[in-house]
Amino acid sequence: MTTRIMQIDDESLALAKKLLEEGDAVAFPTETVYGLGADARRDDAVARIYQIKGRPSDNPLIVHVHKDYDLDSLVEDDRPYAKKLRDAFLPGPLTLVYKSRKTVCSRVSCGLDTLAVRVPSHEGAQRFLRYADMPIAAPSANISKHISPVSADHVYEDLNGKISLILDGGRCSGGIESTVCDVTGEYPVVLRTGLVSAEMIADVVGRCEIYKPKEGERVRSPGMKYKHYAPKCKTKLFGGDELDSAVKAFGELERQGARVYVLCGDEVKDLFPSDKILDLGKTETEMAANLYELLHEGEKIADVILAVEPKKKDGVMAGVINRLSKACAEER
Ligand code: TXA
Ligand code: MG
Repeated sequence: MTTRIMQIDDESLALAKKLLEEGDAVAFPTETVYGLGADARRDDAVARIYQIKGRPSDNPLIVHVHKDYDLDSLVEDDRPYAKKLRDAFLPGPLTLVYKSRKTVCSRVSCGLDTLAVRVPSHEGAQRFLRYADMPIAAPSANISKHISPVSADHVYEDLNGKISLILDGGRCSGGIESTVCDVTGEYPVVLRTGLVSAEMIADVVGRCEIYKPKEGERVRSPGMKYKHYAPKCKTKLFGGDELDSAVKAFGELERQGARVYVLCGDEVKDLFPSDKILDLGKTETEMAANLYELLHEGEKIADVILAVEPKKKDGVMAGVINRLSKACAEER
């Protein structure tokens, strides 16, 4: 199969729609990462997504819709605070998990009675979703467990020969996947941290918790249990208070002749040679925007990436650290 990368215009959108109607999957840009979308109402189309990605069959997908889509047709929304969250943050990088009306096929949410719905703000994503005029189930457009794609080229590296079309909407500005927030309970619970932080949600509705599975409990966001987002080279993660160990490890690896790079923020980069830095930048949103781009770059040039966690842990940084540790920690 030849994989085409096309700018978003009438011709590529018509081709995308034709492919979706044939039950095929199409890659498209969002403001977070690129998605691999298919018709959420068709079991065969959704099954294709799992097959293309090699995704575990118990990890549910998010349904993507344009901003005027009739949400009522997909989910039961009986929590007044959920409307406040939509008004404050959508379209944007916040996915809400509702009670499902079961109008999309059950494979989308792996048989759960909930459905995750996202309204991306990326203009190309909105055009695609409006043109397609159907609910689009879409995970990130990478092979399962690899780093999520933040450019059309990243999608091509993973899915060349496996899909026909990648809609190119440029580099994703957000850089990490959307916040996933359960709105079925009395107050919102963040299942996956991201660019809309728990603090931002609490500011709007008064209360928000970040979900932490108890020992032995069945996880509420199944995707979170897998090692994820990993580059192809070796990695090692250091806490922000383990700088001595990071410097020592860097020296030892260099002496052994390894090509070693350090993924870190501005706060510690002066401890390492400047040509060996994968620079995450200063602010938490800058770090989110740079993280996957740098992991993609790093895996091409490094034998080992040493990653140093930023010291700040809350806000958007919770999402950055979550992805960094899933990419760079040992297999669990
Ligand atoms: O930014 C994003 O969310 C990107 C772009 C493409 O929109 N998509 C994305 O999808 O990250 P994916 O499949 O890589 O991650 C979906 C996450 C997983 O952690 C999954 O477990 C969770 O959403 N999820 C989906 N449906 C759920 C549900 N019904 N209940 C709880 N968690 C759910
Ligand atoms: Mg993913």
